[in-house]
Amino acid sequence: MKYALMLYAVALFSSLVLNGSKPIDKFENLQSDSLLADWDRHISNIQNELGDKVSQPTDSVFGNIKTMKGMPAKRLLAIMKFGYSRSLGVGCGHCHNTSKWESDEKPEKEIARQMSMMTRKIRLELLAEIEGLKSDEPAVNCTTCHRGQVKPALNLKE
Ligand code: HEC
Ligand code: HEC
Repeated sequence: MKYALMLYAVALFSSLVLNGSKPIDKFENLQSDSLLADWDRHISNIQNELGDKVSQPTDSVFGNIKTMKGMPAKRLLAIMKFGYSRSLGVGCGHCHNTSKWESDEKPEKEIARQMSMMTRKIRLELLAEIEGLKSDEPAVNCTTCHRGQVKPALNLKE
């Protein structure tokens, strides 16, 4: 049973990776068709270039991996699309020189690394200290704050 569930989770995850349009429909209000086209164009170019290497660990196929070591390259690409770009409502070029992915020339890329460490710290250290929460493992991610915007809101809409 556990094994079947695991297989299902793997299948679901791959379908999310391979068919990006489905889960995104729910977020229609947060991004335009042109953003979707930007993500998909870049990701399919990178996947074509990688070929079979898309299943290999990030640090063996990419040039400048500091925080996302060890995971398969395709997982990093899924995080770039669903985790980072969609959460902030930006194209890949917000953090990257898109003809030189490994470059750190855009400050937003290093900020994203620091944000990822902050998010981890909130989850593992700060939330973990709060007693009486409903979840056993309360979580926080980029979407929790950003919700499709570069600058998280401080007020609710009027
Ligand atoms: C919010 C910022 C941000 C956005 C938006 C973003 N990335 Fe990234 N990307 C990063 C960071 C940070 C790293 C480096 C991770 C590390 O150091 O482990 C990275 C690494 C990469 C790498 C590996 C580069 C190398 O050779 O080291 C690729 C390829 C990549 N991103 C593709 C994309 C694509 C495609 C998109 C759009 C769908 C995208 N990224 C959107 C922040 C971003
Ligand atoms: C606890 C809330 C919170 C979380 C979680 C969070 N951020 Fe942020 N993020 C902020 C705030 C606040 C700013 C600063 C906005 C400003 O300049 O006033 C910011 C700014 C940024 C910026 C710079 C924006 C720009 O282009 O000027 C990037 C890039 C970014 N975050 C990426 C991420 C990523 C990627 C994640 C998930 C790994 C993440 N953030 C998680 C609150 C958060």
